[in-house]
Amino acid sequence: ESKKKKQTRVWMDGCFDMVHFGHANALRQGKMMGDYLIAGVHSDEEISKHKGPPVFNERERYKMVRAIKWVDEIVEDAPYITQIETLDKYNCDFCVHGDDITVSADGKDTYHIVKTSGRYKECKRTQGVSTTDLVGRMLLATKSHFQHDDNVDKGTVEQIAQDKSAKSPWTGTCHFLATTQKIIQFSNGREPNPSDKIVYVAGAFDLFHVGLLDFLEKVSQQGDFVIVGIHTDQAVNRYKGRNYPIMNLHERVLCVLACKYVSEVVIGAPYEVTADLMDHFKVDLVCHGKTPIMPCADGSDPYAVPKSRGKFRVIDSGNELTTMMIVERIIKHRLEY
Ligand code: CTP
Ligand code: C5P
Repeated sequence: ESKKKKQTRVWMDGCFDMVHFGHANALRQGKMMGDYLIAGVHSDEEISKHKGPPVFNERERYKMVRAIKWVDEIVEDAPYITQIETLDKYNCDFCVHGDDITVSADGKDTYHIVKTSGRYKECKRTQGVSTTDLVGRMLLATKSHFQHDDNVDKGTVEQIAQDKSAKSPWTGTCHFLATTQKIIQFSNGREPNPSDKIVYVAGAFDLFHVGLLDFLEKVSQQGDFVIVGIHTDQAVNRYKGRNYPIMNLHERVLCVLACKYVSEVVIGAPYEVTADLMDHFKVDLVCHGKTPIMPCADGSDPYAVPKSRGKFRVIDSGNELTTMMIVERIIKHRLEY
């Protein structure tokens, strides 16, 4: 039988505000239920109407969803209440959503129409992460900042370490349990081809945002195989201070793995880019964005080795956004969320 099997087209919609690995995991499951995945993303106006303004604007949210490797296509300004007409317009067989109830401004299930017509399937929601939870962590991360003002970076960590009632600055508020299964599901499982140009970058990659995405897109244009080294929670806390990182190492790994520009990640990469690391991964080029390069604990330059080999390049992401700016956005609008 040479009859071509009909392609199953899946529709998933949402706000996708502050895109995290929970969203990515939902999209991954949606993609597994068919062959082609279309993500419908709501506009700022539509979200404001139903639940208040999003943290990220629609241009940022569209770009973030487009960069998730399981998404084949995105539809901008998708209606908040999923319509049969929309599914038909994009030839989608059914709509997929996490197993939580989403309601519109008037308290109605936003999926009631597709549910009644039998064009609705459910995926498992990822426990331990949500936009609300991340906002909570960010507000917590800034509390000590306001209490002690500047110059507190070391003090905060030490104080929290001594205070038995307080939570660890870098992992205490995370309720997500990382398993090897989840990491396998998120990974590409591809090794570089012998002719591939291998590019290495390292960083915190905390609260994976559109600035990091723009950076990784530019980095991917420098070679064929992008390896991202993710620093440990302790390393990030040493150079970012306060209660950073907001996401623990495993959460940051999953966020980066979900990005289509990334081929592989190093879980807990050394802060210094060593000769061993470069030789082991056959790294042809090491890149860093235009953000300041923090010295190693002993004061040395973490990029001394790639620089001495003529294999270091600064990449302009063209985007100024940092994790700290996101935290500031949240504080500024905290009453709205
Ligand atoms: N989702 C999930 N697991 C999470 C968070 C979201 O599976 N921890 C899913 C939702 O069920 C939905 C999709 O991600 O199918 C994107 O929808 P969105 O409206 O952005 O999700 P929210 O539920 O609003 O996400 P959050 O609570 O994080 O804001
Ligand atoms: O701050 P973090 O360590 O997560 O940054 C990872 C990499 O992304 C760094 O090389 C940094 O310079 C780059 N970056 C960028 N543009 C941004 C934010 C980060 O190029 N807006």
